[in-house]
Amino acid sequence: MITVFGLGFVGLTTALGFSHFGKRVYGIDTNQERVAILKNNSLPFLEPHLDIALAEHNNRNFIITDDVQNAIANSEYIFYCVGTPYGENGEADLHYLFSALKDTFPYMNKEKPKTLIIKSTIPPSTTKEKIIPFIEEHGWSVGDDVYVANNPEFLREGHCWEDFIYADRIVIGSDNEETVDRLKNLYEAFNVPIFAVSSNTGEYIKYLSNTLLATLISYSNEMADVAEHIGNIDVTKAFNILHMDKRWNKCNMTSYVYPGCGYGGYCLPKDTNALYTIAKVKGRNAEILGNVIKTNNNMPKIIANRIEKHISNDKKIGILGLSFKPNSNDVRDCASAKIINELQKKGYCNICGYDPVAINEFKEYYNLNMDYKYNLEDICEYADALIILTAWSEFKKVKNRIDKLVLDYRYM
Ligand SMILES: NC(=O)c1ccc[n+]([C@@H]2O[C@H](COP(=O)([O-])OP(=O)(O)OC[C@H]3O[C@@H](n4cnc5c(N)ncnc54)[C@H](O)[C@@H]3O)[C@@H](O)[C@H]2O)c1
Repeated sequence: MITVFGLGFVGLTTALGFSHFGKRVYGIDTNQERVAILKNNSLPFLEPHLDIALAEHNNRNFIITDDVQNAIANSEYIFYCVGTPYGENGEADLHYLFSALKDTFPYMNKEKPKTLIIKSTIPPSTTKEKIIPFIEEHGWSVGDDVYVANNPEFLREGHCWEDFIYADRIVIGSDNEETVDRLKNLYEAFNVPIFAVSSNTGEYIKYLSNTLLATLISYSNEMADVAEHIGNIDVTKAFNILHMDKRWNKCNMTSYVYPGCGYGGYCLPKDTNALYTIAKVKGRNAEILGNVIKTNNNMPKIIANRIEKHISNDKKIGILGLSFKPNSNDVRDCASAKIINELQKKGYCNICGYDPVAINEFKEYYNLNMDYKYNLEDICEYADALIILTAWSEFKKVKNRIDKLVLDYRYM
């Protein structure tokens, strides 16, 4: 039996994924609103296939509970999938993780050691330098009374289910053989390559992945900016022709080697900052990473300046796209909110937003002083200029409108 702390994108997918492979899974979340939605067989966010898996396993293999004692007492494996957001100085904020660990301790059992698995993204050295000492401070001997591993998750929002069930690889970060064996055993049914690496390596691999993606995006944005200043360069065409190179076109990376409004969403911004910060703590100035972050932080201003060149601040602006990427209603750290902020600073006060699925989430998360339209026709009717900030495919048809100024900052 398994317990999963945190029922967000990663935790819910993990819980349902193991239920799918026949394990009994308890799910725990401190967000009561989220729990109520899930218990009702609905999803608190847009994510293909998870609704089907939830309907199939809810109250069967998957039990959502607030009875932590019963869940832990019955579980051999405990997964931590809680958030690790931006800390004050760019580091990963680990307080949700420590809180969930603390909730676990009272119900562990020295005779039957449990395996605690950190799936949340945590900077390299965290398990060794922070988590294991924390567990030991609470009276448990790691490797004897309890086993601890990290197990980074590589899923993409919008593809959570397939990325989890048909993972490219499973990484187990642990310096203890018994722990590795336990996890290999647990993941056997997945039938995908499993790599056991040192605890620091496991954590590091996740950051290698996310910081490389962030670097590709910032590189592309910088190149688009250079092109803009040279002039007479068709950026869209140039990148599409770049993608035809056989070194790129079969590797499914082209969406990252493409300019836009800057990377956003929950993971890339915070993870890039967290790795930069841990490098600093360890005495290194990671210069490339520092510039990747700087380039990304400049993007909202750059886009707002571009908009200003085309349309004055007394005109009506229609923002197309509020989620951080298409086919998602996740608005965390999204480019649109930052660009709207910049426009408002420049005196644009007639701003209206539209998104096929994320209007309510955006409204609630940012509480910006602006209006919204609930369908594409209405916002097209309202606006003097339409600004594409998320590459939803339905916005392609807007690009051909000759009666409106259309500015496409996703190079659709
Ligand atoms: N979203 C992604 O695409 C993705 C991909 C790979 C890895 N990750 C990493 O996985 C972790 C979780 O990400 P997410 O997107 O699923 O986050 P999320 O915000 O969607 O979900 C986290 C959940 O944890 C719950 N929680 C917080 N403290 C808790 C506690 N003490 N006990 C029980 N529940 C608690 C929250 O209420 C929330 O529902 C993060 O470290 C993230 O960086 C995310």
